[in-house]
Amino acid sequence: EHAPKVLVASNRGPVSYTLREDGSLDSKRGGGGLVSGLSAVEDKVWVCAALSDGDREAVRRGVSEPGVRMLDIDASVHADAYNGIANSVLWFVHHMLYQTPVEPVFDAEFRRQWASYEAYNRAFAEALAEEADPDSAVLVQDYHLTLVPGMLRELRPDLRIGHFSHTPWAPVDYFRLLPDDIGRQVLHGILGADRAAFLTRRWADAFIGCCTEVLGGTGRTRIGVHGLGADADFLRRRSREADVDERMATLREQVGEGRKTIVRVDRTELSKNIVRGLHAYRALLEERPEWRERVVHVAFAYPSRQDLTVYRDYTAEVQRVAEDINATYGTADWTPVLLHVDDDFARSLAAYRLADVALVNPIRDGMNLVAKEVPVVSDHGCALVLSREAGAYEELGEDAIVVNPYDVSATAEALHEALTMDGDERSVRSERLAAAATSLPPQQWFLDQLDALLG
Ligand code: G6P
Repeated sequence: EHAPKVLVASNRGPVSYTLREDGSLDSKRGGGGLVSGLSAVEDKVWVCAALSDGDREAVRRGVSEPGVRMLDIDASVHADAYNGIANSVLWFVHHMLYQTPVEPVFDAEFRRQWASYEAYNRAFAEALAEEADPDSAVLVQDYHLTLVPGMLRELRPDLRIGHFSHTPWAPVDYFRLLPDDIGRQVLHGILGADRAAFLTRRWADAFIGCCTEVLGGTGRTRIGVHGLGADADFLRRRSREADVDERMATLREQVGEGRKTIVRVDRTELSKNIVRGLHAYRALLEERPEWRERVVHVAFAYPSRQDLTVYRDYTAEVQRVAEDINATYGTADWTPVLLHVDDDFARSLAAYRLADVALVNPIRDGMNLVAKEVPVVSDHGCALVLSREAGAYEELGEDAIVVNPYDVSATAEALHEALTMDGDERSVRSERLAAAATSLPPQQWFLDQLDALLG
């Protein structure tokens, strides 16, 4: 039996290029669930956008990896679509991040950017229509590409099209912030797919709710749920390599002998709620002074979407609050917050191994893989403080200490409870968390979607 060709479309592709001083191009492979998920598929083409000058140069020179087609979309069109619409509007709606003073603005500039978002989606639809064989399956990813399924269906009614959302989906009362015609276009766009899938039941139900209220139903599109799990085999192997051991030795030294660790690892992202996490840690030191000198908050906050002012401001705020805590409580040989902002995967794994407590407190999150990865990698079992607004809560809620992400005092108490959890209980819970976290590995996650689309 002949397996159909598989096409995947996403803004960020599996490879990126940087231009070296001497004019040559350096290529770097990316990670993530989609990259490992796709490794099981033979006949595939990944359509993605050129994101950097290096990427654009690679397209112009015809440099590419087999199975990857990078689109050289006009830089200003891409900036409007990616920074303007996808990351400033759609991301904010689905994560419910608009709160005074960050308010939605739907003016002429927004309409101009929306036209770019349409053009950017059309570039993907056209490339996919070109690449697809008659029986191909096309899997379109995320809020950047909501219009692609509908556009592609018109160009190629023969294809089987899926859409997958990696973010939460906004409840209808919040979704209605979007101008009516735009909201309808987004929903119609996704409903151009044969199947629209989500990370949890909650996000799928919210999408169905929007379609029902705004359009009167989901039409002939099937709705699915696939909860991406952590890649246990990869993580266990990778976290035992020599570079991770080295980083552990350094971290141990920085933390100091006999101290407990509260670990967090995130993109510096408003939805991750890093600043409130720091305030909760400050409240812990204030309300429970017995923890002073006995705990270190290891916080890794890696750069993200730095073209956007709100993200740059948020990055500065994280640094300011961390410094303030260190200035208030720090002593000659104790730094209460160990903040790192330069991305280093090996060091993240080292922190996972050392963690006594993992803090995952997003305002909203599609899944949150850190919550799933830490218990898998942890050396001696760790306690998980988890926001009930993370998708991972559906699978991990029972063995985590669950918090309302806005409630700073309750988060401080949850940290205390996690730090004092009895060793046996902690190991038992950590093992159950690891089992739940790995029940759907990336390759199976992807194949399930493909089967469901073709079935
Ligand atoms: C979220 C989105 C992804 C995105 C990732 C990183 O997980 O769902 O689509 O790739 O964030 O964000 P970035 O803007 O750097 O691609």
